[in-house]
Amino acid sequence: MTVPTASSTPPDRAPAHQPPQQASPHPFPPGFLWGGAVAANQIEGGWNVGGKGPSIQDVLPGGITAPRTATPTADNLKQVGIDFYHRYRDDIELFARLGFEVLRFSIAWSRLFPRGDEDAPNEEGVAFYAAVLAELERHGITPLVTLSHYETPLYLAEHYGGWANRALIGFYECFARTCFERFGARVKYWLTFNEINSMLHFPFLAGIDKPADQVGQAEIYQAAHHMLVASARVTALAHATLPGAKVGCMLLAAPVYPLTPDPADVWAALDSERRSTFFGDVHVRGYYPGYALRFLRENGITLRITEQDRADLRHTVDFVSFSYYMSLCESAAPRQEAMVAGNVLPGVENPTLAASQWGWQIDPVGLRVVLNQYWDRWQKPLFIVENGLGAVDQLVEEDGRLTVHDDYRIDYLRAHLQQLAQAIADGVEVLGYTAWGPIDLVSFSTAQMSKRYGFIYVDRNDDGSGTLERYPKRSFEWFRRVIASNGAEL
Ligand code: BG6
Repeated sequence: MTVPTASSTPPDRAPAHQPPQQASPHPFPPGFLWGGAVAANQIEGGWNVGGKGPSIQDVLPGGITAPRTATPTADNLKQVGIDFYHRYRDDIELFARLGFEVLRFSIAWSRLFPRGDEDAPNEEGVAFYAAVLAELERHGITPLVTLSHYETPLYLAEHYGGWANRALIGFYECFARTCFERFGARVKYWLTFNEINSMLHFPFLAGIDKPADQVGQAEIYQAAHHMLVASARVTALAHATLPGAKVGCMLLAAPVYPLTPDPADVWAALDSERRSTFFGDVHVRGYYPGYALRFLRENGITLRITEQDRADLRHTVDFVSFSYYMSLCESAAPRQEAMVAGNVLPGVENPTLAASQWGWQIDPVGLRVVLNQYWDRWQKPLFIVENGLGAVDQLVEEDGRLTVHDDYRIDYLRAHLQQLAQAIADGVEVLGYTAWGPIDLVSFSTAQMSKRYGFIYVDRNDDGSGTLERYPKRSFEWFRRVIASNGAEL
């Protein structure tokens, strides 16, 4: 995948036409949860302190779009992140000032189990997350915990072959049980795997320690099966041990449009989208859908599925969460069209859409589309747990303070929230919205600091320089008002 470099003021290309805007009544229901989302490996730093072992992220200094390194290297910005490990109190204080009602964050598996296959957790790691949870509670912020956000312990990748190995189900269960036992009293909402469908495209995210083009489909789908079984097993465990707990799956959502009205393109789009919705179908329905069985059969893939696996898969999720950044197009013709760089999933460029500085096509209406599709398909409450604009920000001085005039970010988020409002008015049940990276963090795909999503600027640069000071951007006050008005003031 080519990684575009940042250009000038986002977005860098005008849309051919504006998305339809409709006035809607103020539709956000009481109790709708507003907040932000982060991941341990992108914010914490402290990569080797407090007993933490390395995760796959510690050998990805160029992000998932670059090859892994043999060992952790000092050029990896994630080693320091934004130093949340030491600054979490101040950062949570800033989130409280924003009025956050919910914070989505992940628990770094290798901070609790440095290798991943131990029987007992690293108590220093447990203490860190207990302290974070106590701080959130002090501010009345509801935690939404991702158990595994692209943070498979490196040892499990290098010594077990990652999720291709059935043994990981047991190791993950042990990790999840520890989280439930130690943190369950304070956490109601849990997500099992971040963007579980992305492992089809980047198998190293599932700890399969080979270049993507050397991993066969059989190995990938066997690993996917193990993850699905693990997800179902810990869902059952949460239901059995934590009264009131709600467990969700988490998908990378990108609606796929046919490039033309040619029925062959319509089918190609539907078929392509099923690669992702497959994961939701299993999580929600509790069994493999017919189209997936056909795909496996016709590709000569015989999965090792036990009777116990089938029984475990019947433990289905309470809600479906997803990230949304962009939509894609698909065509039945051989791929001659321009491809878009994007959020992990490949697709054909949509000529009607503008794109971000990193080439991610901006499509607010796509959020309404995907919300309606998922609701119609699964009839489960939905939770938007990532959405936002990665952009280059310029620090400026205003009234003696440093800030960023990020009106482009406000425009992006406002347009998406308007479409979310439409979807709620359409009858879609949505639990909440957590903006991605409310505080600038190290990007996932390219491991850059300069790709910023935050309402809060962090003084850190791609070369690792910077004071790590935090500065609220213009979008900070805007989002604070959105939350305070429960979405009435967009
Ligand atoms: C999602 C991931 O794919 O997209 C996040 O769950 C990630 O971890 C986000 O940061 C945005 O991607 P990027 O590459 O811009 O950081």
